[in-house]
Amino acid sequence: MTVYETILKRRTVRSFQPRTVPGSILEKMVNAGRLAPSAANLQPCEFLIVDEQDLIAAVFSTLQWAGYVTPAGNPPEGKRPVAYIVLLLNQEKSQGGISEAGAVIENMILTGLEEGVASCWLGSVDRGQLVKILNIPDYCRIDSVLALGYPDQENQVEDFAGSVKYWLDENGNFHVPKRSLKDVLHRNTY
Ligand SMILES: Cc1cc2nc3c(=O)[nH]c(=O)nc-3n(C[C@H](O)[C@H](O)[C@H](O)COP(=O)(O)O)c2cc1C
Repeated sequence: MTVYETILKRRTVRSFQPRTVPGSILEKMVNAGRLAPSAANLQPCEFLIVDEQDLIAAVFSTLQWAGYVTPAGNPPEGKRPVAYIVLLLNQEKSQGGISEAGAVIENMILTGLEEGVASCWLGSVDRGQLVKILNIPDYCRIDSVLALGYPDQENQVEDFAGSVKYWLDENGNFHVPKRSLKDVLHRNTY
């Protein structure tokens, strides 16, 4: 798969097979994240892999899923993520880091997908709770959480028809409207 083909294939997944993702793949994803561009090469991003059973359950309790279709879109029991990568911004390296986090996460998502691993990037996180659960030091901010596993869903893009709200079909798959290329592309002047 080319990078472009992987990008076209990528969809957020919120239902996973009960199958472990090898640690080597998680580390490969972090390596791809680590090599992302950063302003002034400050590299504020750090990574916390969570793959221990009790911690996986604890992290799950801090996350909010699929706001437009909650609770139907939540990962059902037995189909929850099997690992997480928590993206941290080390404030001693940079006060910012949000753009860097975006680049890092997308690198990780695409690298995972190349290995068959699906993901959901979550920003709706109870950070106060997660800091305690994972013993995160106060000089690190939690940017977001990447939930991981082998997919148990076949989600697809739909043409935008006036609403950005994704929906679930009767088979439990998400349909995600995207604005058309014509709608978002401008040339030379707006
Ligand atoms: C910064 C960011 C935060 C997100 N936070 C959540 C979240 O908290 N919970 C969730 O279920 N999905 C979350 N998502 C996933 C989006 O809902 C998803 O990307 C969007 O619906 C488009 O679907 P697609 O990724 O399949 O293109 C987030 C995505 C981004 C980029």
